[in-house]
Amino acid sequence: MADQNFLDEINKRRTFAIISHPDAGKTTITEKVLLFGKALQTAGTVKGKKSGQAAKSDWMEMERERGISVTTSVMQFPYGDSLVNLLDTPGHEDFSEDTYRTLTAVDSCLMVIDSAKGVEERTIKLMDVTRLRETPIITFMNKLDRDIRDPIELMDEVEDVLKISCAPITWPIGSGKGFRGVYHLYNDEIILYQSGMGHTIQERRVIKGLDSDEASRLLKDDIDDLRESIELVRAASHKFDLEEFLAGQMTPVFFGTALGNFGVDHMLDGLVQWAPAPLGRETDKGTVAATDPSFSGFVFKIQANMDPNHRDRVAFLRVCSGKYEKGMKLRHVRINKDVRISDALTFMAGDRSQVEEAFPGDIIGLHNHGTIQIGDTFSESEMFRFTGIPNFAPELFRRIQLRDPLKAKQLHKGLIQLSEEGAVQVFRPLKNNDLIVGAVGTLQFDVVVHRLKTEYKVEASYEPISVATARWITADSVADLEDFKKKAHDYLALDGGDNLTYIAPNMVNLQLAVEKYPKVRFDKTREH
Ligand code: G4P
Repeated sequence: MADQNFLDEINKRRTFAIISHPDAGKTTITEKVLLFGKALQTAGTVKGKKSGQAAKSDWMEMERERGISVTTSVMQFPYGDSLVNLLDTPGHEDFSEDTYRTLTAVDSCLMVIDSAKGVEERTIKLMDVTRLRETPIITFMNKLDRDIRDPIELMDEVEDVLKISCAPITWPIGSGKGFRGVYHLYNDEIILYQSGMGHTIQERRVIKGLDSDEASRLLKDDIDDLRESIELVRAASHKFDLEEFLAGQMTPVFFGTALGNFGVDHMLDGLVQWAPAPLGRETDKGTVAATDPSFSGFVFKIQANMDPNHRDRVAFLRVCSGKYEKGMKLRHVRINKDVRISDALTFMAGDRSQVEEAFPGDIIGLHNHGTIQIGDTFSESEMFRFTGIPNFAPELFRRIQLRDPLKAKQLHKGLIQLSEEGAVQVFRPLKNNDLIVGAVGTLQFDVVVHRLKTEYKVEASYEPISVATARWITADSVADLEDFKKKAHDYLALDGGDNLTYIAPNMVNLQLAVEKYPKVRFDKTREH
């Protein structure tokens, strides 16, 4: 039996990520959330706008310029009686793989929508990912200080396009210059907005009761309209249902402005009240519950050179069950080796420090000396592996060229380390000494060259190469695989983890190969 302390620690945790289309306000909300979590003194530190050229180095220098370093890709802070873990996801779509994997490590998501624009393309894609695990979604309709679309229309769009029912929790009173605040449908409270207060936590003026005299007095001409629209909203929209929310079928909707720091706290209140405490995770031997007292966790992200002074590589591990204690011995399941972990890191907004203990839902950083891969399981006793952490076949390929041939060894090392992070993949054809970089988005190519130069002192450039797609190869019998290796030799390569891949010059070639070798599997994703 798990002891009560342990259960309390689990129950107070909420681990979530923000999904949104670029520019909807993710960074601004993160900043305000940290302000409420007392992790930032004044908001405005997470700043930095990705414009044009600058986007190339978004990832490290930009993050640093933003004032909180990349270590804050995980942020832990207290809110009320809860302890919240917010996992950041890269904004640029070229880093979508990283985002997908991060979403496997959370228990709920906040969806941010620009209320002037409605549901945008990247949100649709990310919602598809959250649906794979039926992740509960909270919605924040942002930018109410601007002229927005009709709120009812916005909710209809979410329902139609994203196939999730909307239950408004708050309702906006006006928008743009006429934005007065929101009405809380369940607390029967009007919360008044005051502009120009976005950088601090403000005491908001709250009016109890839509039908109160005070409401009539303060909202004057607007009150009749408000009463009417609330009546309409109550009749026409769904009532919040916790079970449907937890099943990922209904989203509570909040309205506000992140920039004006209004409504973010209502959303946070909803998060700690309704979002699930750390959930169990699937393994190849069944589900592991968070309350299982034996420690287990999986690696969903690896980052090299987080701290250039230390040139270290950190593996981010989501604790799934049990308790981490400094110095404990864990089984690194894939390589079947016991390791003593005495220097795991924790991430308290901005600072990283050594963690003494961690509980399910928490993220800890393990120092990686090249043995850890994305998807790896660490466990105190059981030999199982967590499943469902995908690696996607890249869609863009380039041959990398070295300016100084004597640096071949550094290039190789740099590419392998960067590919461990999972953002790009490296392929070494069996037939020659080429190094081919594969990526899901073009920005990653620039980032690789930039990082090779700054972190590994290697100058490299790209050449086009005729590779259209890659597939991971497996077969049930060794003989079939060997036969295939002989026959398809010229199209085969090893990826950064030495897995066999087929690199096809075009889709027709791939299709023919798939038909010709029915005993071999050509997989578009490789599950770690
Ligand atoms: P992102 O991380 O999702 O890409 O969005 P981010 O928070 O960077 O916000 C994108 C732009 O939208 C920023 O403006 C930001 O200030 C603005 N914004 C965010 N929330 C609100 C809001 O509630 N109201 C209004 N009016 N604007 C909001 P920018 O001009 O592109 O950048 P900056 O110069 O302000 O940093």
